[in-house]
Amino acid sequence: MATRNVAVIVGSLRKDSYNRKLAQALARLAAPGLAFQFLEIGDLPPYNQDLDSAFPAPATRLKDQIRAADAVLFVTPEYNRALPGVLKNAIDWASRPYGRSAFAGKPAAIAGASVGAVGTAVAQQQLRAILGYLDMPTLGQPEVFIHFKEGLVAEDGTITNEGTQKFLQSFVDKFTAWIEKISPAQN
Ligand SMILES: Cc1cc2nc3c(=O)[nH]c(=O)nc-3n(C[C@H](O)[C@H](O)[C@H](O)COP(=O)(O)O)c2cc1C
Repeated sequence: MATRNVAVIVGSLRKDSYNRKLAQALARLAAPGLAFQFLEIGDLPPYNQDLDSAFPAPATRLKDQIRAADAVLFVTPEYNRALPGVLKNAIDWASRPYGRSAFAGKPAAIAGASVGAVGTAVAQQQLRAILGYLDMPTLGQPEVFIHFKEGLVAEDGTITNEGTQKFLQSFVDKFTAWIEKISPAQN
């Protein structure tokens, strides 16, 4: 089967981000069926509609990378029971100008890690609503709310807990099938 390209947007800019580690572990589990490309969102300016007619270079790059991908994976923390501002800012840039969104029709999936037991569920619900508006068919199950503990992801990107590893494998397998269903590979 052809390898499909997935644009990955991590909702944390933190150097040692648990969500980035989770995304890297997912990349490992998803290969070779899915190839992950991690998108930079930390250099985007705050969204300003005045710039719709003169898009800044980082926002153009972001849109081009999303357009070139077969699907988008969002891996995000929850900040104050909400979506992190940096993630919303990236989504706002890539969705504009009106009618020229990079997201429309792209299959998507969501995962998240938090230090709290129920963390990211609220942020993920908000993100789901946004992706619905953006016309992105989003994988419904399984929902990935990871209660992250230090050491869950080893240095080489492997998941150290067997149950979590199996669960995340089922997630990437379902996401792979979802991409094929929504947007079959053109051979
Ligand atoms: C501004 C801020 C708000 C936070 N709010 C929440 C929250 O609402 N729910 C939660 O489970 N964790 C919350 N946390 C803790 C995060 O789960 C934790 O910092 C986590 O490591 C962030 O993800 P990252 O490691 O990928 O950066 C918050 C952290 C910060 C910095």
